[in-house]
Amino acid sequence: MSSDKKKQPMKTGEKVLFAIFGVFLVFATVAFGIMEYIRQHSDKPMFTQLTHYEFSAEGKKGSELFRVRDCRSCHRALGAGTNMGQGADLDGIGSRRSFEWIYNFLRNPEKTYGARTIDHGAPPKEAAYVMSLPKEELHAMATFLSELKADQGAATSPIPPKGESKFIDTMVNTFAPPEWKKKYKDIRDDPEALKRAREQAERQGL
Ligand code: HEC
Repeated sequence: MSSDKKKQPMKTGEKVLFAIFGVFLVFATVAFGIMEYIRQHSDKPMFTQLTHYEFSAEGKKGSELFRVRDCRSCHRALGAGTNMGQGADLDGIGSRRSFEWIYNFLRNPEKTYGARTIDHGAPPKEAAYVMSLPKEELHAMATFLSELKADQGAATSPIPPKGESKFIDTMVNTFAPPEWKKKYKDIRDDPEALKRAREQAERQGL
């Protein structure tokens, strides 16, 4: 037995594993680089913007208050604010909730929510200060929020995207049992069904 430490040669299995890992790493790095390059050099947004707004004078004031009153430390609206936490994204909320609902929620969170709330409500909840803000301010912020609308197909919209989705069609064709095709209609093909879905979403306060 020799005393000098010889490097153990790698076993074939180890080499294969390292090679796979190496290829994967190089691929991921290159793909990320390409994606970032395209994202920065493209004049089209990567994702279609599916929310929109048109502010009244009071809505504009509300958007200002929304910032000043620090709502953005927990919420997101108009692309500014945080993504953390529940109920965070308020873009498009005006298509799910009415002005009255939002206004009542801000003044009377738990009663309006119909469930235990996390941050809005009486002290010591973290957003307890919201319900004791002046009524005019809450009114303006509720106006602002009710003017944030979602277009069809947005995550906040009860109505699915327009047109064909190859992905959805493939999934349906592969996994849906044949009798479903007789039983259910694609609501995108049926204006009446779309209207009913809208009404139902409204009734459920979605
Ligand atoms: C400390 C974090 C926090 C702050 C600050 C905060 N919110 Fe919220 N907000 C929440 C959470 C969490 C919810 C979900 C309900 C709950 O559990 O309280 C929510 C829910 C809401 C909802 C209802 C959303 C829905 O559709 O269910 C509205 C509207 C709202 N907040 C508006 C505001 C406004 C306006 C302000 C600023 C004046 C504000 N929030 C400040 C955390 C916060």
